[in-house]
Amino acid sequence: MQSALEQLQEIRVQALAALNVEDLDLAGLAAWEKHYLSASGVIGEVLKQMGGLPTDERPLVGRETNAVKRELTSAWESRRTQMQEASLHTRLSQESIDITLPGRVPPIGTIHPISQMIDEVSEIFAYLGFETVFGPEVEIGKYNFDMLNIPANHPARDVWDTMIVDDDRDEIVLRTHTSPMQARVMEQRQPPVRVIVPGRVFRFEAQDASHEWMFHQIEGLAIDAHITMTDLKGVLTELARQLFGSATEIRFRCDFFPFVEPGVDFSVSCPFCKGKGCRVCKHSGWIELGGAGMVHPNVLRWVNYDPDLVQGFAFGLGVERLAMIKYGINDVRAFAANDVRFLRQFARADFGLGLVTA
Ligand code: FA5
Repeated sequence: MQSALEQLQEIRVQALAALNVEDLDLAGLAAWEKHYLSASGVIGEVLKQMGGLPTDERPLVGRETNAVKRELTSAWESRRTQMQEASLHTRLSQESIDITLPGRVPPIGTIHPISQMIDEVSEIFAYLGFETVFGPEVEIGKYNFDMLNIPANHPARDVWDTMIVDDDRDEIVLRTHTSPMQARVMEQRQPPVRVIVPGRVFRFEAQDASHEWMFHQIEGLAIDAHITMTDLKGVLTELARQLFGSATEIRFRCDFFPFVEPGVDFSVSCPFCKGKGCRVCKHSGWIELGGAGMVHPNVLRWVNYDPDLVQGFAFGLGVERLAMIKYGINDVRAFAANDVRFLRQFARADFGLGLVTA
């Protein structure tokens, strides 16, 4: 029969051989540890036989058992470290990042040119003391028409211009201009009033290069004692010069809007040909921007203002028209067509990275 020392040697040789098998994996390593080193493992079995050994052999077998156990434990630890390092190395080499690769630029949107135009105009008017306010796009006939001195039989109320949402209840419409906010603001505030109202408006119109069925206007309203047409002209001249250069002129021509008296349309001298006449201004030297005038006394009265004490001016300008002049665009339909190649041109350096990728 094998002596305890011989058994230990055999265990040692077998264990070291099993530990050095090349394709040993972590599960195999755990099984190895259980088989050789645990209390119920094979070395444990040798120790259990100690009681049956002659007394003088016991210390030697005890020492030898501990020595084998220490040797195997240390061999197991270094194999484990080696396997962990190898697995880490494999993982790292698979996950490696090539830091020399160029970064991916995420697609970044741009602010729509119409919004940019509105921001720019709002900033100019803020400087002139005007507050920017917003109103509902779905309006009632009272504000879109009645309070603006547009009587029930006025052609502008005709179904061909106005998109009606609900004719039974209160004549609910998509607002055809930003002017309804005149009465809404005056009902809420006492003079002095100085506001601009940018926003979307809707008209039942055929589209062409200069007409959209949905477009944007900026309404302006100033009410105070002693306001005159000169103030109106001064404010619009300042706007035009800030937008198109200091030599720009404003021209008023008589026009009719039921809610102003007198009413005008206003044009700017063509910034492209400096008024000499070119393709953009159709050789007239002027480009029309909107309508304006002195607020009609009826409109003031209906919001409980006294026309003998306060007067005011109002104007409404087309934002698409403004943007077309500023950016040299010859078809208004480009703004709502949602073609990113068109919109990308208006990327601004101060918005995000100003970069757009396909
Ligand atoms: C009005 O809408 C009046 N509310 C303006 C006003 C306000 C007058 C305050 C007096 C006092 P008008 O319909 O002319 O006016 O429109 C004003 C501007 O909006 C036009 O000069 C034009 O620049 C723009 N506009 C009008 N219709 C369209 C359209 N279909 N597509 C694009 N822009 C348009």
